[in-house]
Amino acid sequence: MHLTPSAYTLLGLTALVAALAAVLTFALLRFSAAAADTRRNLRGGGAETALLSAAVQEAVTKLKAQERATAARADASERLSGEIISSLTAGLLVVGLHGEVRILNRAGLRMLDLPDTLQPEEYRRSPREQPLHDVIDECLARGSSIVRRAVVLPEAGDGVTHLGVSVSPLSDQNGRLHGAICLFTDLTAVKDLEEQLRLKESLATVGELTAGIAHEFRNGLATIQGYSKLFDLKALPASYRPYVEGIRSETESLSQVVTNFLNFARPAQLTLTEVDLRAICERAADEIRSDARALGGDVDVRGDFGVIEGDEVLLRQAFSNLLRNALEACAGAAEPPRIVIQSEVDPALKLSRIVVNDNGPGIPPALRERVFRPFFTSKRNGTGLGLALVQKIIVFHNGRIVAGASPTGGASLQVTLPIAG
Ligand SMILES: Nc1ncnc2c1ncn2[C@@H]1O[C@H](COP(=O)(O)OP(=O)(O)OP(=O)(O)O)[C@@H](O)[C@H]1O
Ligand SMILES: [Mg+2]
Repeated sequence: MHLTPSAYTLLGLTALVAALAAVLTFALLRFSAAAADTRRNLRGGGAETALLSAAVQEAVTKLKAQERATAARADASERLSGEIISSLTAGLLVVGLHGEVRILNRAGLRMLDLPDTLQPEEYRRSPREQPLHDVIDECLARGSSIVRRAVVLPEAGDGVTHLGVSVSPLSDQNGRLHGAICLFTDLTAVKDLEEQLRLKESLATVGELTAGIAHEFRNGLATIQGYSKLFDLKALPASYRPYVEGIRSETESLSQVVTNFLNFARPAQLTLTEVDLRAICERAADEIRSDARALGGDVDVRGDFGVIEGDEVLLRQAFSNLLRNALEACAGAAEPPRIVIQSEVDPALKLSRIVVNDNGPGIPPALRERVFRPFFTSKRNGTGLGLALVQKIIVFHNGRIVAGASPTGGASLQVTLPIAG
C-alpha cells in the first residue's frame, strides 16, 4: 500500500503527539507519587516539627528576656554610678584630652562655688579655679598620676580655699590616653584647725618664755617709777624738771606695755560659763558710744548673736579692743566714726560670725596678717598688743579672727566662734 505524503505527515504528527502524551503521563505519575510521599512524610514527622518550633520559640523568648535583663542591668548600673557620683562628699571632675569637662559632681560644684544646676557642657574655666586645672593639665601632659597635691584657690573676699587634689590619667583598652579623673577635697577647715593649734602652741611658748622676764622688768620699772615720784618737782631747779617728768611719763608708758604684755603672755585660763554674745557686744559698744558720739558718729549692734561656752571677761576684753581700735582708726583719719557690729548665726555649722566694721582708713591687704603680731603698731602710743590679745582670746575659744575691708572702705575684723549646743 502506498501512502501519500500528507498521510505520512499525519502519521508522523500522531506519533509525536502520542510520545508527548506518554512523557506527560509519566511526569504526572512521578509528580503525584512524590506528592503522596511528601504527604506521608509530613504526616509521620509532625511531632518532630512541632518540637523543633517550640524549641526555637523558647530560645527566642529566652534571648529576649536576656536582652531585657542586660538592658535593665545597664540601666541600674548607670543609675548606681550616677548615685555614687552625686553622693560623693569629695569633688569629682572628669575631663577629656583638651580639658573639656565631662563630669563635675554636686560636691565639686559646691566646693568651686558654682550653681548646683550647672551642666558639665556649660562649665567654663575661671581664673579662680585655674590652680586646680593646672594640676589636671600637668597630669595630662605627663600621663601619670598626681597624688594629694595641695592647691589654694582664692575666694571672693579675703579668704582662700585649700584643696587636696589627686588626678589620674584615663586610657582606653589600647592604652591610649583620653582624659583624666580628678578627685578633690576641701581642706580649709583642717588648715584652720592646724593654724589654730599652731597659734595656741606658739602663744603658750611665748607666754612661758617671756612672762618671767616681763615680771622682772615690771619690778625694775616700778622701782624707777617709785624713785622718780620721790622727787619734789617744785624743789628741783627748773632746768631739771623736764628730765624727771620725762622719766615719769616713759616709765608709765613702759609699765603699761609690760602690763599689756603680761596680759597677752599669761597662759590662757578660761573660766567657762554660758555667754550671750549679744550682751557682750552691747556692753563693749556702750563703753565707747559716748566717745563715738562726741566725734559725730555712733556705734550700732545688729543681727543674730549666739550663746557660747566661754570666758565672759576675756570675750568682753576682746570686743572692747576691737571697738577701741575702730574708734581710734576713725579718729586718726578725722572721720565721724560709724562703727557697726554685725552678727549672724550659722546653725548648720554651729558658728556665730561677728564682724566689726568701721569707716576709718582700713588696713592695707599686705598688713592684714601682721596686725595680729605682738608689738605691731602704727600708733605713737600704741603697744601693738591689742589685736594679739584679741586673737589669743578668740583662738582659745576655738574661733578665728581675720582682718578685711568693710563695705565703706574701712577695716572689717571678722570673728568666728563655735556656738553652744
Ligand atoms: N580698725 C582698724 N582700722 C585701721 N587699722 C587698724 C584697726 N585695728 C587695728 N589696726 C592696725 O593694727 C595695729 C595693731 O593694733 P593693736 O590693737 O594690736 O595695737 P595698737 O592699737 O596699735 O596698740 P594698743 O592696742 O596697744 O593700744 C594698729 O596700730 C593699726 O595700725
Ligand atoms: Mg589697739
